[in-house]
Amino acid sequence: MEIMSTLITNIAELMTQDLEHRVLRDAAVVIDGERIAWLGPAAQAPAADDVLDVGGRAVLPGWVDSHTHLVFAGDRTAEFEARMAGESYAAGGIAVTTEATRATGDFDLTRLALGRVAEATSQGTTYLETKTGYGLDVEQEARSARIASTVADQVTFLGAHLVPADIDPEAYTDMVCGPMLSAALPYVQWADVFCEVGAFTESQARRVLLACRDAGLGLRVHGNQLGFGPGVQLAVEVGAASVDHINYLAADDIAALAGTWSDWDASAGTGSRGTVATCLPACDLSTRQPLAPARDLLDAGVPVALASNCNPGTSFTSSMAFCVTTAVLQMGLSVHEAVRAATYGGALALHRDTGSDYDGGRAVGSLAVGHRADLHVLNAPSATHLAYRPGMPLTHAVWRAGVKVR
Ligand code: NIG
Repeated sequence: MEIMSTLITNIAELMTQDLEHRVLRDAAVVIDGERIAWLGPAAQAPAADDVLDVGGRAVLPGWVDSHTHLVFAGDRTAEFEARMAGESYAAGGIAVTTEATRATGDFDLTRLALGRVAEATSQGTTYLETKTGYGLDVEQEARSARIASTVADQVTFLGAHLVPADIDPEAYTDMVCGPMLSAALPYVQWADVFCEVGAFTESQARRVLLACRDAGLGLRVHGNQLGFGPGVQLAVEVGAASVDHINYLAADDIAALAGTWSDWDASAGTGSRGTVATCLPACDLSTRQPLAPARDLLDAGVPVALASNCNPGTSFTSSMAFCVTTAVLQMGLSVHEAVRAATYGGALALHRDTGSDYDGGRAVGSLAVGHRADLHVLNAPSATHLAYRPGMPLTHAVWRAGVKVR
């Protein structure tokens, strides 16, 4: 099939989120196949096979959702209602979803996960990670990983999500590090561990992370979600690509994260990547935890990602726009910073800010020549409307790898 080029023009605001942080007015973009072939002032745009006038709307990179748990069945409305009535969130609810997930066949589990991906896509998400973690035995975790690999761009092994009630925690940790990891390995790029009271202790979490690192996986950590704890320092120690949740951070935690970026040249996008601080504001609100200190992290020089954490227990939404809105209205980020965290920040956390890792694909999360053509057209003249008009359905059109998907 012949590759067609498309000129998208009459863009009032083009927020590139590229290395120079460019925001162009009266701009245009040329898509050629799956890639961006040109972008710049509309008046200087080259000819293309097709022309699309977006009528003075804003264009951003598609959202990069770097933290989701989409492979699950069942419902936790009752737990949510109890929480809204004053109960606190505890990791034990994961067992409820595990039971429902185990009881659901491959076809239905895949259909459910695909439905969630479709919801995300329709709201502007063009690249996403998802995790296992509702299987919690060797066979079910491998099944989750296999299904996840058919619906998401990148997959994280989270066998260390919760210790099932009938198993000794050390024996379960051995299983995660041994047969469960081996069974999931063909389908995953990352490993994660829930290092928290009620889930995995620091030493169990370290064992899991080191075993997964030895197996060649990149690392991530669920840390400091329900209280101050060792998650962040452990993530730094093992060289994790991100530490996620981070609601309770001591000054030492922020300093340690900042230290991981000392060999990174942010203006060139080169050097050693450190540990991204991934904030999950929809989860923070749904669990009534303090919002993660994204402002302090950015001020300390730590790259921040915003992600939906779509899951049935703590954050049953895939709306990245909601996360951006909350980050601006409640967490002290500017619109540009919040959009950057939900696009380039997510790509940095998944090592897809450049095109060379994992699947050999093109860079995502920013708009520049050669990058994947993942575009989000807002039904608004500027990205500011994401915060100015909270809760409004502002997605007008979406391109994923050069294909119009909405
Ligand atoms: O990221 N914190 C741990 N894991 C999920 C929640 C899992 C659940 O309660 O089902 C999260 O919030």
